[in-house]
Amino acid sequence: MDNFTFWNPTQLIFGKGQLEQLKTEVPKYGSKVLLVYGGGSIKRNGLHDRILGHLKEIDAKVFELPGVEPNPRLSTVSKGVEICKKEGIEFLLAAGGGSVIDCTKLIAAGAKYDGDPWDIVTKKVIATEALPFGTVLTLAATGSEMNAGSVITNWETNEKYGWGSPAVFPAFSILDPENTFSVPKDQTIYGMVDMMSHVFEHYFHPEENTGLQDRMCESLLLTVMETAPKLLEDLENYEHRSTILYCGTMALNGMLSMGFRGDWATHNIEHAVSAVYDIPHGGGLAILFPNWMKHNLKVNPERFAQLAVRVFGVDPAGKSAEETGLEGIEKLRDFWNSIGAPSRLADYKIDDSKIEVMADKAMANGEFGTFNKLQHEDVLEIYRMSL
Ligand code: NZQ
Ligand code: ZN
Repeated sequence: MDNFTFWNPTQLIFGKGQLEQLKTEVPKYGSKVLLVYGGGSIKRNGLHDRILGHLKEIDAKVFELPGVEPNPRLSTVSKGVEICKKEGIEFLLAAGGGSVIDCTKLIAAGAKYDGDPWDIVTKKVIATEALPFGTVLTLAATGSEMNAGSVITNWETNEKYGWGSPAVFPAFSILDPENTFSVPKDQTIYGMVDMMSHVFEHYFHPEENTGLQDRMCESLLLTVMETAPKLLEDLENYEHRSTILYCGTMALNGMLSMGFRGDWATHNIEHAVSAVYDIPHGGGLAILFPNWMKHNLKVNPERFAQLAVRVFGVDPAGKSAEETGLEGIEKLRDFWNSIGAPSRLADYKIDDSKIEVMADKAMANGEFGTFNKLQHEDVLEIYRMSL
């Protein structure tokens, strides 16, 4: 286990009816509020009205930035920054999924920076301050509601990068499972694939002696896999929605990553695909992750075998670690197929015509991955396996 410092200042407010807490929390930060949201789901399910109702009760002056895209775009961030600067916004409220929250994070940091917010994403400058913001999460997936990361797409250059700063932890996040009832089946599936992928990115690391971390990861995977089929049969089931909502937050809020640095190569490889083709992040991960695993099986077959036995119920008797590990990877693919996740790039009509371009984008900052350092040829091979 490596040295570590754990710090997470986000106040997590979980459960039915917790939206009321807006009235206590928002006034702590100011009265000029920018409400940031996506393409309209919060209007259709009534959340928009309920949020405005609460903000009205505390006499907040509310400005709105609607239309944040899935895979949020720099152009929308710039609109938000402009409103913040022009109107003297004191607090941002993100109501939506990971895209809305990530967009809000860059607006919050961009409002305190004089140049182009893309400088922050490309790490030309480090964001050391940001406007305070809170979130009302509507989709269980990214963990953005309780972490300090954000992923933004520059559609002019077809680049999609993650950035982060301790300045952009949400001040609070309100997680009411009922706000996720209206998430359609496909997005519910992508969200569950994403949170499982976050666990895999943690699980494959180069450290030793991470017994508790391993078992925490395995419990989270088992819980998602046990709940997923039941939730997909009954999308408005409060218990199942709460379990998945809690899993999504715990999968990427730092709790699983103490004492090592996770791999994160598959996320990098996926971001390069969605930068070029604008596909859903979780859909891309479902296609790519089992192939990253197969490509890296030989790096540490015992680790794959442990996952296969403990999570996928593979019987290791009479098998090598590599055979056991491979069976686990196949069971992961079977599981994701069983819940309706995509398995090939062809499912998004992606052929081999741009895999070189995507591999170049994935390699923009050189070799990557902690479990195994990937080079251009490795990335190409994973794309080829995924066609
Ligand atoms: O835009 P609206 O109308 O709100 O619709 C959204 C969107 O179309 C819809 N939706 C969300 N909540 C809903 C709902 N529809 C009905 N009812 C609700 N309650 O779902 C669609 C997808 O939303 P989006 O926010 O894009 O999904 P997700 O939460 O999966 O976020 C994906 C983005 O997060 C990034 C991804 O790369 C991608 O850009 N990630 C961010 C991370 C982070 N900040 O820590 C880590 C992740 O690994 C990921 O990379
Ligand atoms: Zn992810």
